[in-house]
Amino acid sequence: MIQKLIVANWKMNPQSLKEAKKLFNSVKNWLKRYSNVLKNIRIIICPPFVYLPNFSPLTSNSQHLTSNIYLGAQDLFWEEKGAFTGEISPRMLKNLGVEYVIVGHSERRKILEETDEMINKKLKAAIKAKLKPILCIGEKRREVGSRKYEEIRNQLKKALKGIPNSFFRLPDSLIIAYEPVWAIGTGNPCKPENTKEVLLFLRKIVKFPILYGGSVNSKIAKDYIEVGFDGLLVGGASLDSKEFIEIIKGVARC
Ligand code: PGA
Repeated sequence: MIQKLIVANWKMNPQSLKEAKKLFNSVKNWLKRYSNVLKNIRIIICPPFVYLPNFSPLTSNSQHLTSNIYLGAQDLFWEEKGAFTGEISPRMLKNLGVEYVIVGHSERRKILEETDEMINKKLKAAIKAKLKPILCIGEKRREVGSRKYEEIRNQLKKALKGIPNSFFRLPDSLIIAYEPVWAIGTGNPCKPENTKEVLLFLRKIVKFPILYGGSVNSKIAKDYIEVGFDGLLVGGASLDSKEFIEIIKGVARC
């Protein structure tokens, strides 16, 4: 059975561990209750680093995660260890039971000035540590025509530079999130019918699962799956457990 992926990117939220636990547990408990009918869905929760140990399947005080909920990080550093104040190494994440990691999110590209070269190094470091990267790409401005495709192709090419060909034969080892930057956090998603062409374009280049991200809500979530995406990357709407569960339900019905 082909699984649909739903990534919850909590970004820099919520502000307390208590709230984080409440959010995580409400999604986890709901998933547990319906796990037998949700076998076609994989949920990847990406909380801020500081909350990860609380949700790790490896720590003694956390209950075992249900079969379809996985832990992801929002970023990582490319070096293995050493004098890199404030950074988190790939192995630290791996040792916590983290399986996925978001790489190249547009907020980091823009606010923290992450370059394609840095993203390429992070991607390679994640692969080396056997973490599954969720690589974010997408055009900055709302535009039609060849400029958009050029921009996306360039991001992809630079991010994947130097990654061995053999890796591309393992279809589940990397996930691509197509996120038009102008649609992220704006409440103004790219209409599903307008994402179709980009999806086809990406399918010609890579065999990896492709997600849509950018102001996803429960009303339109399933439309992206119907267009052909393998899942969704959800930001704001993943912070409201009821809304997030509605998104999961919508995808599960497809
Ligand atoms: P959003 O964020 O759903 O709030 O637009 C998406 C993302 O994390 O990129």
